[in-house]
Amino acid sequence: MRILVTGGAGFIGSHFVRHLLRTYPEYAVVNLDKLTYAGNPANLTDVAADPRYRFVHGDIADARLVHAVMAGCDAVVNVAAESHVDRSIQDAGAFLRTDVLGTGVLLEAARAHRVGRYLQVSTDEVYGSIAQGAFRETDPLRPSSPYAAAKAGGDHLVLAYWTTYDLPVVITRASNTFGPHQYPEKVIPLFVTNALDDRPLPLYGDGRQVRDWLYVLDHVAALDLVLHKGTEGEVYNVGGGHELENLALTRRVLALLGKPEDLIRPVTDRPGHDRRYAVDTGKLHALGWQPAHAFGDALAATVAWYRAHEAWWRPLKSGEFQTYYAQQYGRR
Ligand code: NAD
Ligand code: DAU
Repeated sequence: MRILVTGGAGFIGSHFVRHLLRTYPEYAVVNLDKLTYAGNPANLTDVAADPRYRFVHGDIADARLVHAVMAGCDAVVNVAAESHVDRSIQDAGAFLRTDVLGTGVLLEAARAHRVGRYLQVSTDEVYGSIAQGAFRETDPLRPSSPYAAAKAGGDHLVLAYWTTYDLPVVITRASNTFGPHQYPEKVIPLFVTNALDDRPLPLYGDGRQVRDWLYVLDHVAALDLVLHKGTEGEVYNVGGGHELENLALTRRVLALLGKPEDLIRPVTDRPGHDRRYAVDTGKLHALGWQPAHAFGDALAATVAWYRAHEAWWRPLKSGEFQTYYAQQYGRR
């Protein structure tokens, strides 16, 4: 089995590539990644020399390249995306190109090459915010941010290729994921690394927004299950089952690091900030998945990882990140 994984140099993609190579000795994995600011070959140094692994540097929106790379692949897992909400609010262009157009290019190639399985890695953000209860897979999509809208566009395209062409697709929609190798723009690695430097933690608005936290190893286990056992044409929610307000999350991070709460700096809220995400994961549970990692242990392990891997994150917080950070937080 040869699997094309896109975005395999990013956070979730690199964990998924490693998971596939470790779990299935007979599989070969091709990783197509543009190496944007979020892509980092250092995330996969441990598998780089594996003869079953091949890295291709390129863009999923490049149709000619995608057709060439997909030849001979049995399955495609599209993990590649522009993934950060705040950047999409600053400039949506790259989001439209990668998350919508790039998905369309992959689908066309998958159809042309008669790929046996196409898994679209999507997000619970496509549903929008929910005050009570939890979204089911059949609920309408009401994305709030340009990022979420672009991901919803991708999801619609994927399902259209199932309806129109019988392309054997499946979609996952997962909740907020955390763990080692997450780019330090996302709230947990940003707050951990800022706190390690005794710098302020910019908490948006009243800090009472709720996210459902999912450990990255549980996320990739869900991707594996849906890739192999999911029903064609179906969507599967993936949720950690651990809802937490941002303020409470921030306090836990500070407590794990032994840092004072006066590092918390309330700043102007994110425009269009979704108040709460929650997904019903009954369908995935019925397929045989449960989160295997307790939130508290996984958060402690993640904080410990960042503490021990300064050489990984410190270079990422210089250069381009400084410009982004000043734009994002300078006027708040
Ligand atoms: P990430 O930003 O860490 O990594 C994205 C990867 O995609 C990078 O390696 C980047 O170089 C690559 N990439 C970007 N544009 C590309 C292009 N045009 N062609 C090829 N490669 C390209 O993202 P992540 O947090 O690992 O998220 C991965 C996927 O999971 C995304 O589709 C995201 O929507 C989804 N998701 C993320 C979360 C989360 O909490 N991080 C939760 C649910 C779903
Ligand atoms: O729900 C799944 C989504 O989770 C994924 O699709 C996205 O790719 C991923 O980035 C994540 O989106 P969020 O916007 O929820 O994640 P982020 O880490 O940016 O923010 C989490 C919460 O923390 C959110 O309510 C905003 C808040 N926050 C974030 C940052 C970066 C702050 O209060 N301050 C910050 O500086």
